[in-house]
Amino acid sequence: MYTYSVIFVLCFYVSYGQVLVFNQCPDLPVQRNFDVEKFMGNWYERNVYTAGSGGDRCNLDTFRSTDCGSFNLNMTDAGDWLVSGRARPIGAEAAKLVVDYFVGANAELPYWILETDYNSYAVAWSCLQSPAATLRYAWVLTRNRNSEEALQRGLSVFEKLSIDTSYLKEVDQNNCSN
Ligand SMILES: *[C@@H]1O[C@H](CO)[C@@H](O)[C@H](O)[C@H]1NC(C)=O
Repeated sequence: MYTYSVIFVLCFYVSYGQVLVFNQCPDLPVQRNFDVEKFMGNWYERNVYTAGSGGDRCNLDTFRSTDCGSFNLNMTDAGDWLVSGRARPIGAEAAKLVVDYFVGANAELPYWILETDYNSYAVAWSCLQSPAATLRYAWVLTRNRNSEEALQRGLSVFEKLSIDTSYLKEVDQNNCSN
């Protein structure tokens, strides 16, 4: 069962273009005193950290709180549904969550809010440790679809934390109907 879960999660991860790195997940600092309620609502994906070619369009994530620091999320692109999930905090730091993605089986992946000011930018990070490697994904999110200033604030988090930015791909947010 454990093996099955790991393989499933790996397949799920890889199919979404996650970056495979052969070392440990970095112990990155997360947003202090993360306030789930202030984070809820709509966020536009401006950059994603992916081994894929990019090419995503109009990605919009919607967050709704449930209880006890938990929330539901929907990820959509170009107006179409992509994936839904349920996030819950693990441990003492509210910004460190895991998300159960509803993809027909249990796919539980980390979801950390590295930094946010709640009303303009946020950086979310996911690193899954498996015995041989790590699988990484990240998002630069902004409240406003086109704000360059918010995007730059998000990108600066990667520089500050010395995360390799070569995998960051822009999400096209032009001519969107959602
Ligand atoms: C996700 O989408 C479903 C179907 O449209 C909706 O019922 C649900 O409330 C949405 N959840 C969030 C977090 O937006």
